[in-house]
Amino acid sequence: MKKKYLITLLAVSSMLMADGASIYASKCASCHGVHGEKSALGKSKIIAGQDAATTTKQIQGYKSGTLNMYGMGGAMKNMVKGLDDASIKEVANYISKL
Ligand code: HEC
Repeated sequence: MKKKYLITLLAVSSMLMADGASIYASKCASCHGVHGEKSALGKSKIIAGQDAATTTKQIQGYKSGTLNMYGMGGAMKNMVKGLDDASIKEVANYISKL
């Protein structure tokens, strides 16, 4: 009984951690648009449909502070610094389907 509870708890928390749609809606949509259709702060490219490998690489770059394409990398760093690898992968996959 206790074990089953623990497994359910783990499953739920990993869903919360790595659900691309909810990460995107809560952390990205305000600047990039609900459907990824906006240029964030008038600077970024439109990211909807961008392939997941490119997006993953860019997010990792912003997170580590090495990517700054339009002088606004610091804004992106703040947005993605709390995402772990699994979450980055999920959100990149989600964006590729927008
Ligand atoms: C505060 C507004 C803001 C939020 C929120 C935000 N971004 Fe950005 N994003 C930007 C800006 C500004 C840039 C351009 C940064 C630069 O100068 O390189 C950018 C760039 C990007 C790029 C590169 C686009 C290109 O031009 O090639 C990707 C991919 C991206 N963001 C994904 C995300 C994801 C995923 C999230 C949510 C976890 C997110 N962003 C949240 C503002 C934001």
